Formats: sequence, structure tokens, C-alpha cells
Amino acid sequence: MSFGLSRGRPLDTAPGVVMVSEQECGPLPDEIISDPNAGRLDPRTWFPLRNEHPDRPFEVEIGSGKGTFLIQQAPKSPGTDYLGIEWAAEFCTYAADRIRRARLPNVRLIRTDATELLRWRFPDGIVDVIHLYFSDPWPKARHHKKRVIQDRFLADAWRVLVPGGELRIVTDHDDLWRWDREHIERWCGPGPCPHHEGPVPAFAETDFTAPDSADQDELVGTNFERKFRREGRSFHATVLRKLTKSHSTGE
Ligand SMILES: C[S@@+](CC[C@H](N)C(=O)[O-])C[C@H]1O[C@@H](n2cnc3c(N)ncnc32)[C@H](O)[C@@H]1O
Repeated sequence: MSFGLSRGRPLDTAPGVVMVSEQECGPLPDEIISDPNAGRLDPRTWFPLRNEHPDRPFEVEIGSGKGTFLIQQAPKSPGTDYLGIEWAAEFCTYAADRIRRARLPNVRLIRTDATELLRWRFPDGIVDVIHLYFSDPWPKARHHKKRVIQDRFLADAWRVLVPGGELRIVTDHDDLWRWDREHIERWCGPGPCPHHEGPVPAFAETDFTAPDSADQDELVGTNFERKFRREGRSFHATVLRKLTKSHSTGE
């Protein structure tokens, strides 16, 4: 139970139903030191509707905050499973309680560092869409290594996406956007793309279109977008689509 964001109301994260439990994820095995695949599992098995429909699309949101995108989007797309990944305990607990009360069988939440989860746990080619909305900007130079967009992350995102899968990015932060653009130019161009083992270009950039759940004039409709809109800020948005050899050459 937690009493933080809830203003005194006890929160229930429904472990094993909404919040992914320690039993479901398990500890990382020591063998990953010599075998990077040793900790891989299939997060799609955490979703009950998948038993009957194994081809359900699987989408991931990195930094779900209070869970607003998941709560708005999942009912609009009941045939898709959504995993929210949030490392801040207070937000994760609050969001899990909201998702539990909304009774959404196609949404689960895990409290961890998303970059590590993708890197060590996710198998190749399982994610249809990665959503990254209003990622923390970490403005000080010595903190830039904490930004989600890094070459290492883009290599993992490329690996875990299905062919043609998408990484969707929205930010209000001009300096973070400049950083993102430097990476995007590299990963949508001839490279080099550090840590990448696939063909180049690794991604193609395409226009951002709002999800069904966004209100009119919104890009996504997350809590941060709505707060920043009230403040009159402007936004940057893009979509990187995973290219494979056949996509690149048109074969
Ligand atoms: C600025 S908030 C945006 C929240 C939400 N996406 C929105 O637009 O309202 C960024 C969130 O990402 C989370 N976060 C940042 N880096 C993360 C990471 N590597 N793994 C998981 N969560 C992360 C933070 O804890 C925070 O809740």
C-alpha cells in the first residue's frame, strides 16, 4: 500500500494482475555476464488474452507517469496488449491503481528501467510500437547519459521491434530534441550506428499521427502534454519505423 499521490487513499497495484510481480519477471541470471541472451523472457505471456489470441499486437510505453496514455488508449484498442514501464515507484503505484480500477485486461505495468528491460529481457522482434512521450530531458551535460535516447537504446529498440515496427517520440524540450535529432540522423542515415548489428539505414523517419485516444488538437494527450499546452509550449514529434534488409532494398 502507498499513500503518496493518492492523498491518503490506499493504493492497490494488483501484483500479478496489473503490476508485473517479481515471480513473473524473476531475477536476472548471473549467466548474462557471458551470455547476453540468458535473461530473455517473453513479456507477452504476462497478458491473459494472449492465450486465446497469440497474434495480438504488443506495444510498450516507456515512462508511463500517471498512466494516462495507457488508460485512454487501451480501451480504444482492445485487440492490443500494452506494457507500461515506469521506474519511479510513486508514479508506478499510482498508475497501477488507476489501471486496476479501470479494469483493463490488456494493460500491465512494470516498475523498472525500461532501457535495461529491453536490453536484457526482451527477445528479438516482439514489439509493434514503442511509445516515448515527454521523456525526462536531463538538461545538465553530466546527466545526458541518463536520457533514454542513446545509441545503445536505439540498437535495442531496433532489435526488439517487429519489421516495420515503430518508435514514437514526442517532446517539448528543445535541447533534448536537438540530441534526439543527432541520433535520428545517424540511425536514419548510413551510420555508423554503434552497437547495431542490422542493416543501415536502421530506421526510416515518418510523420507522427495522433493515436485514436488523443483529443482534438492533441498529439497524444498525456498529463505532461496537457500541462505544457496550458503553459503555451510547442512540441516536437516523430516516428522511426524499423527497416529490415527487404524494407531497405524494396525486395
Ligand atoms: C516527464 S515524465 C512524462 C510522463 C508521461 N509520459 C507523460 O507524458 O505525462 C517522464 C517519466 O518517465 C519516467 N522515466 C524516465 N526514464 C525512464 C526509464 N529509463 N525507464 C522507465 N521510466 C523512466 C520518469 O520516472 C517519469 O515518470
